[in-house]
Amino acid sequence: MIKKCLFPAAGYGTRFLPATKVIPKEMLPIVDKPLIQYGVEEAMEAGIREMAMVTGRGKRALEDHFDINYELESQLRGTSKESLLAGIRHIIDSCSFSYTRQTEMRGLGHAVLTGETLIGHEEPFAVILADDLCVSDSQGVLAQMVEVHKRHGCTVVAVEEVPQNEIHKYGVIAGEEIEPGVFRVDHMVEKPAAEVAPSNLAVIGRYIITPDIFDILRETQPGAGGEIQLTDALMQQARQGRVMAYKFKGRRFDCGSVGGFVAATNYFYHMGRR
Ligand code: UTP
Repeated sequence: MIKKCLFPAAGYGTRFLPATKVIPKEMLPIVDKPLIQYGVEEAMEAGIREMAMVTGRGKRALEDHFDINYELESQLRGTSKESLLAGIRHIIDSCSFSYTRQTEMRGLGHAVLTGETLIGHEEPFAVILADDLCVSDSQGVLAQMVEVHKRHGCTVVAVEEVPQNEIHKYGVIAGEEIEPGVFRVDHMVEKPAAEVAPSNLAVIGRYIITPDIFDILRETQPGAGGEIQLTDALMQQARQGRVMAYKFKGRRFDCGSVGGFVAATNYFYHMGRR
């Protein structure tokens, strides 16, 4: 039902400088796989095969990662290492990839609007911020959200409870819980001070969005931090009761921060040894 996933991946990743001076943040590996590949695999698990990426200057490695490297493949063919490329080869063979560039980093809302040319206005689409790495014992987080979207037919944002001292980093929602773990959003605010935050439910980097968001984003003025905020545009939809917040089952690592990145690395390293 959801066919396309947008990956805004144009940010500078300043928290990882100097590592991200030349290497896109999304190409940093958790153990042996780049963040962006975890995101694409989660989208595939949700039944999506059309991947659309918003990149920027210096991010060409993302395109190369999802392309065949004939020289490498022919070198490894028939050796014990051939299997190491099987996973990425399967992705390349099963999915299509399209790219556009955000020329000025004007915020996540602007990045999503830049992706309009790849997504179109026909149907709802998913958004994954690959620096939020999600794991789940059962169904992947985006697949869970597709189920919620099927039931309600509107925009769905993933939320999790965050501690008071971290709330100012997130978009925060308020709303009525209409079924276990699903809230009809009536208020959303980006990066509120903890004292005025409407709840402790923070939006993380997973969305299913109806395409009217593009027209809304075109009219959205810069908000918190002088950036065009996706949260502000989603608030327009929420005013009409068309946004659900879903408390997902699973765990999220904020791999855009050094602490979250190290925690994810430990988690996947120990998983691999089990
Ligand atoms: P972040 O603010 O976490 O990413 O944006 P950043 O700017 O790359 O990182 P820092 O804060 O400087 O370390 C969240 C997501 O939105 C994308 C980023 O690539 C990231 O996936 N983004 C953000 C864009 O694509 N364009 C923008 O203008 C801003």
